[in-house]
Amino acid sequence: GDDTPPTSKQRRRSPTPLPPVHALPYPSLSAAPTSPPAFQQPTQIISFSYTPARKLEFTNSALRFLAALPPRPQLSYAYERWQRRPETRPRIDGLLRALSTARAKNHPSLANGVGAVGWRGVLTRIMTAPYEERDGWDMNVMCVDGVLYFEEHLDEAKLRAKNDLAPRQRLNTYYGYAFESYCTSEKPSTSNVPCVNVPQAPGDPPGWGGDVDTNVQWCSVVRTKLGDTRLVIGGEVDCVRGTYTSKTDTFVELKTSLVIRGAQDEMRFEKKLLKFYMQSFLLGVPEILVGFRTPSGEITTTQTFKTVELPRLVRGKAHGWDPRRCFAWGNELLEFLKKNVPSSSAVGIELQGEDEDKTRHPNAQVWRLTFSSGVGVELRQLD
Ligand code: A3P
Ligand code: MG
Ligand code: MG
Repeated sequence: GDDTPPTSKQRRRSPTPLPPVHALPYPSLSAAPTSPPAFQQPTQIISFSYTPARKLEFTNSALRFLAALPPRPQLSYAYERWQRRPETRPRIDGLLRALSTARAKNHPSLANGVGAVGWRGVLTRIMTAPYEERDGWDMNVMCVDGVLYFEEHLDEAKLRAKNDLAPRQRLNTYYGYAFESYCTSEKPSTSNVPCVNVPQAPGDPPGWGGDVDTNVQWCSVVRTKLGDTRLVIGGEVDCVRGTYTSKTDTFVELKTSLVIRGAQDEMRFEKKLLKFYMQSFLLGVPEILVGFRTPSGEITTTQTFKTVELPRLVRGKAHGWDPRRCFAWGNELLEFLKKNVPSSSAVGIELQGEDEDKTRHPNAQVWRLTFSSGVGVELRQLD
């Protein structure tokens, strides 16, 4: 129940933060952007899939291919059959398994020292912080053998909020996944033009690509470099266009958004584009397909954006954003962490799998990075 006191296990998982030891102030948006650090084009080092049983396997079984949309698809279809993955603490274990598997295969691009490792969502939060007007976040940071590892930290309240969505919010979330079902197919398209899915089960509407199971994900792990820091970033890729080549240049990000009816809506959408941009850019995803939907979940139009062209669309507008500020801030933050989070030795650290109770880092110090909008970040060592 909700009002039971935390068990000792839960207490152990949420150690009391010590007072901050280091702070990095919020970047000023009024100052001219400092000369931006270079961001290297991401290249894929490995891919993997999560099965319906949420087993990680080094296959492309969960890979989906872009399909053409039928006219005006209804996103509420099969809501009651949604296989929903419960929200658990986001752990880095799957990404670490992928990285060590790539290393074991002697992947040449991993010969040079990696500086930081994290899921794409975590790096998107870091990079978009200069423009974040509302939501704060907490991250756990470890430095092992000179490599920074990031994990988002959700406290009990945030975790509960993610699991107990209001019915309306839950449905809106489902719309995003239903759009993915209509837009993707299990099979590659043999011609240049994707086809509309052929329904597989009786009662399915035209173009339905199969019932939604959010356990299933296809993930790509890329290496890239920001300033002087080599990054390894993992994240889900919604689908690829045509056939799969192990390169990122056919990756497609799918998004839904409310139909734009006026200047206010347009401004909101253009602000939101920063998240679409960063999320895609970090994994090297060149194309974003947005489906505009009514409040009741009918897609009325779609629009394709080239990721690299998004900044120009908003440049100079009052509500605009400049990715160069994001990269300058991200680089500054990475340098700040390199300076202030001491490195531990990997000896004695054992990652025993995805069961969070079994994961132990006996030698490594865990640090907590806390971001507040308008203020900046604070860093403290955890108890
Ligand atoms: P939309 O993005 O179309 O709304 P992603 O876009 O990252 O591939 O995620 C797929 C879907 O997961 C989203 O579809 C949305 O429904 C849900 N989702 C992702 N991140 C979310 C978040 N922070 N809060 C609520 N829902 C989220
Ligand atoms: Mg996705
Ligand atoms: Mg998506």
